[in-house]
Amino acid sequence: MVSLSALYFVCSTLLSGSHAFEIEDVDVLNEKWGSDWNFAGITTFARLPTNRCLVDFNTTYDVAVVGVPFDTAVSYRPGARFGPRAIRAASMRQNKLRGFNARAGFNPYQNWAHVVDCMDISVTPMDNVLALHQMTEAFHNLLAHNTTHPEFGKVPRLVALGGDHSVVLPHLRALHSIYGEITVIHFDAHLDTWLPNKYPEGWDSSLGSGIGEFTHGSMFWMASEEGLLSKNCIHAGLRTRLSGTDYEDYRDDKEQGFLRITCDDIDDFKPAGIIEIIKKRVPEGAPVYISVDIDVIDPSAAPGTGTPEVGGWSTRELIRLLRGLGDLNLVGADIVEVSPAYDHAENTAMAGMQVAYELLTSMVMNRAKEGVHLDPSREELGLPASSYSEFKQVSKDEDHSEL
Ligand SMILES: *[C@@H]1O[C@H](CO)[C@@H](O)[C@H](O)[C@H]1NC(C)=O
Ligand SMILES: *[C@@H]1O[C@H](CO)[C@@H](O)[C@H](O)[C@H]1NC(C)=O
Repeated sequence: MVSLSALYFVCSTLLSGSHAFEIEDVDVLNEKWGSDWNFAGITTFARLPTNRCLVDFNTTYDVAVVGVPFDTAVSYRPGARFGPRAIRAASMRQNKLRGFNARAGFNPYQNWAHVVDCMDISVTPMDNVLALHQMTEAFHNLLAHNTTHPEFGKVPRLVALGGDHSVVLPHLRALHSIYGEITVIHFDAHLDTWLPNKYPEGWDSSLGSGIGEFTHGSMFWMASEEGLLSKNCIHAGLRTRLSGTDYEDYRDDKEQGFLRITCDDIDDFKPAGIIEIIKKRVPEGAPVYISVDIDVIDPSAAPGTGTPEVGGWSTRELIRLLRGLGDLNLVGADIVEVSPAYDHAENTAMAGMQVAYELLTSMVMNRAKEGVHLDPSREELGLPASSYSEFKQVSKDEDHSEL
């Protein structure tokens, strides 16, 4: 039988709406409420801690993910400004606890490195001259931060989430100021070394902003013109149509120092053969940048992109190739051209998320082993203490139309 006092307590609790509630210790609360299910929580890449790194120079990290939501240099479908957001949302089933990469035998989130999500670079969609300047300054800033574990390398590594493909140019500029010429391994259906005159141009360019060549198809040409690239660069996954009536685009490309591995080559060489070709071309220890345009994957698996081309690689093949390159000296990387408005069921965003995960796995793993590639100190390279201050110095006197 229920006692009168108990009945009174139940009634008064219901009436007042209050609960019998005791404030518990923070550890107990953390155990109860401190973790989210995969579908819950505020979105960050792989649920990593976030920081607006650009405004806080005291932030240190060894590897960082950063969004570059810029897409006003596209030649076909716009929309990749929403790429970082979609990739982060697709990455929410990744976390520290379930982060062991079985293909690599390694958990990048539970090892020596402090890995963070530096949020997005705020880039104007209104003015490409200013946008390129903003992105260049941002990458200099992000790479000038101290690392958390300088004994594993003094310069942090970034995985940039595009954005259209043009966002690789400012990243390469900042990396070049630290390492010198960069060897780019470029996964893409397209060349992106196109000379600007391969686009329609009937108008006097002096009427424009002066950087009409800054497009998502010509930024490697610009990088090459600026002397940022080594002569050992590689494209992989090509299947684009070319200009005109012959292989002139290939000749231009070769002059810029690229070797071309086509999409169909994978039938003849298999992924292992492609990995071998790439590794043979990259000099031992050379600073490598891996740039992945999601359109290297077949549109059946990654439809949400700016310039889709049929007949591409499978997501599995791309992952195998990236894993096979995991021991190169990867100093920077990106995954670009994820455009969620054309996506279905998050397929493209998930592929993008997996690419970023493979790249950052490599960035942590290749320095966890013995014989790691430690960066020379900035003093040894004869560089000022921070590439950011050097950039600020140069850009103060610079004519921005030259950008
Ligand atoms: C960074 O650290 C310095 C020295 O401890 C401090 O004076 C400064 O306020 C810090 N800056 C920020 C943004 O926290
Ligand atoms: C970065 O590290 C150097 C060397 O340890 C130190 O002198 C400098 O103050 C650090 N910078 C910041 C912003 O903490």
